Amino acid sequence: LNKLVTKLTSLAAVTLFSLNLSAAPIEIKFSHVVADNTPKGQMAKKFKELVESRLPGKVEVKVFPNSQLFGDNKVLEAMLLGDVQLAAPSLSKFQKYTKSLQVFDLPFLFADMDAVERFQNGPEGQKLLTSLEKKGLVGLGYLHNGMKQLSSSQPLKVPADASGLKFRIMTSDVLAAQFEALDANPVKKPFSEVFTLLQTKAIDGQENTWSNIYSKKFFEVQEYITESNHGVLDYLVVTSKEFWMTLPDDIRPIIKESLAEAITFGNKIASDKAMSDKQAIIDSRRSKVLTLTDAERQQWVKAMKPVWAKFEDEIGKATIEAAEQSNK
Ligand code: LMR
Repeated sequence: LNKLVTKLTSLAAVTLFSLNLSAAPIEIKFSHVVADNTPKGQMAKKFKELVESRLPGKVEVKVFPNSQLFGDNKVLEAMLLGDVQLAAPSLSKFQKYTKSLQVFDLPFLFADMDAVERFQNGPEGQKLLTSLEKKGLVGLGYLHNGMKQLSSSQPLKVPADASGLKFRIMTSDVLAAQFEALDANPVKKPFSEVFTLLQTKAIDGQENTWSNIYSKKFFEVQEYITESNHGVLDYLVVTSKEFWMTLPDDIRPIIKESLAEAITFGNKIASDKAMSDKQAIIDSRRSKVLTLTDAERQQWVKAMKPVWAKFEDEIGKATIEAAEQSNK
């Protein structure tokens, strides 16, 4: 009987082993809204390449760019339902899940991307990564895009120039308040609709990074772009807690490390593109790039900065102060 049990046990082990070998790979669907030739598009591709070379046959990454799978208003709901495993929405698109990430939307808070980087790597920035956990989401890291510029059918040199105009914004109440402070009309719309809204003149303008204005051809349907650098557009790479926790223990760290490398790669592209895409827009002569004098810029700061006080309670004073400190 003993012999029989041993035989059966080893048979079972062999069966389990071969079952495991033939098990379907874990699928990671990575859904995003921008083009492939952007910091996020390139980061997603790099992540796929790294994960699939390190975990061959075990994990498969499918990248869906250009809102092909989910637009930015649906992706987080889809993630909680298990229909997508990875996304990197802009930090402005999380207000349904947490108020603290709104700090990134405060106008004229960060002097430049180095300040953003210092804040994200500091204790307050790292704490914000966990701000979605109660909602079932895990923040895996930040990814840069860059500073936002204002584009419009009208030349915007001083805040009064924006008065009465309609601007597309991401789903953020801070961004709404920012345009209301200019007596302009903010309209919350998904990224996938922006080009058509601009082309048909349903809206007058929008705010975005050089990379998004270039890769989505907004510059072809906007006569003016003001180099305002008035805010930041960065991303939070997220997954669902459920997916993350059920990953095998030998696989999760490899995915994490590949993601960190892909983010470093994407950040380098972000800083390169902030310059090269701006230059490509200038060279195209489709859109006139306006620069501000210090005095003009100060007028924008004065008009927009009162927004901070409105959101101080929701965001937390300590968080805003830490962000300000990162400018030094
Ligand atoms: C936008 O909606 O303008 C951006 O968040 C798009 C993106 O993901 O860069």
